[in-house]
Amino acid sequence: LTAEGILYMVSSALPPKEALKDPFRYQMLVLVVLVCVAAQTEVVIASDDISTFNRNSFPAGFVFGTASSSYQYEGAAKEGGRGPSIWDYFTHKYPGRIANGSNGDVAIDFYHKYKALQKGKIGITLVSHWMVPYSNSVADKNATQRAIDFMFGWFMDPLTFGDYPQSMRDLVGKRLPKFTEEQTMLVKGSLDFLGLNYYTAFYAVNNPVRNATNLSYSTDSQVNLTPLRDGVPIGPPQSVCIAGIDEVNNSTLTLEEALKDPMRIGYYYSHLRSLKKAIE
Ligand SMILES: *[C@@H]1O[C@H](CO)[C@@H](O)[C@H](O)[C@H]1NC(C)=O
Ligand SMILES: *[C@@H]1O[C@H](CO)[C@@H](O)[C@H](O)[C@H]1NC(C)=O
Ligand SMILES: *[C@@H]1O[C@H](CO)[C@@H](O)[C@H](O)[C@H]1NC(C)=O
Ligand SMILES: *[C@@H]1O[C@H](CO)[C@@H](O)[C@H](O)[C@H]1NC(C)=O
Ligand SMILES: *[C@@H]1O[C@H](CO)[C@@H](O)[C@H](O)[C@H]1NC(C)=O
Ligand SMILES: *[C@@H]1O[C@H](CO)[C@@H](O)[C@H](O)[C@H]1NC(C)=O
Repeated sequence: LTAEGILYMVSSALPPKEALKDPFRYQMLVLVVLVCVAAQTEVVIASDDISTFNRNSFPAGFVFGTASSSYQYEGAAKEGGRGPSIWDYFTHKYPGRIANGSNGDVAIDFYHKYKALQKGKIGITLVSHWMVPYSNSVADKNATQRAIDFMFGWFMDPLTFGDYPQSMRDLVGKRLPKFTEEQTMLVKGSLDFLGLNYYTAFYAVNNPVRNATNLSYSTDSQVNLTPLRDGVPIGPPQSVCIAGIDEVNNSTLTLEEALKDPMRIGYYYSHLRSLKKAIE
């Protein structure tokens, strides 16, 4: 699935009215999340740093978890008031487009099984990327903020402030739905916890050109996103373009060398260290 595929899939999975009949699914719909992260920084890891860096380095209330997309997990495609998502429609209408003609009707049946998981907690994660300015120009810095507004603020601002980001309201204009006062009160502060789902990072370039003949979500932010700057990728090479860490298959490594897994260790360490810094 592409990031966009997952995003549309999640955002179109449930009409809110239907979802309200089912608290589990409503929670999954409302508890929007996102994010981001690039393994951009080269990290030199001192082994004594790693040995003292552990669960206790984080506040007790901070929960570590893993996440997957609802379509890939849930199953129960026709239960609990759930309406069809575009992926339900697509996989049934064009089974030949999916390996083995499979679909997410059952998936891993998490909808029925989640209660049996030890200490399982459910939230929704929605796909996002992180953006950094392509250059030091004010225009690109502004573009970066807009890109974040359009990917992250689109969901988080209503949940925290009760409305879409100002940049979205300005740029999307009357095509952006308006919150009624009642809706603002309903969503504002309505999250129980915030989960962050990490994908990848892009450079953001200001792109003020608008195409009035075909206004769309992809151009409203007036930003171009690119993983390259002067031909150099923003992070180390990956085997899949959107995941947080997925090493290239490096056939020059012996099994013994590969099992030491230094790239993954470095990635988690540098990421968690940044997370700790952000919390502090
Ligand atoms: C397709 O189905 C066969 C038989 O069940 C299975 O062995 C194979 O792994 C499946 N392939 C994919 C891509 O799921
Ligand atoms: C950047 O954003 C600020 C604050 O919104 C605005 O005042 C300024 O004109 C913008 N500058 C450019 C070059 O986009
Ligand atoms: C604007 O969109 C139309 C329709 O998609 C396309 O034909 C045209 O080339 C676009 N113009 C620019 C400047 O991107
Ligand atoms: C406008 O954009 C949408 C989404 O990218 C595309 O499906 C549609 O064909 C475009 N319309 C025109 C007239 O180019
Ligand atoms: C593969 O591993 C070798 C030996 O560690 C390293 O020099 C090389 O950069 C790696 N290649 C890639 C594409 O990561
Ligand atoms: C990785 O590379 C090795 C050696 O070239 C090859 O045997 C193996 O099938 C590759 N694995 C994948 C998942 O591509």
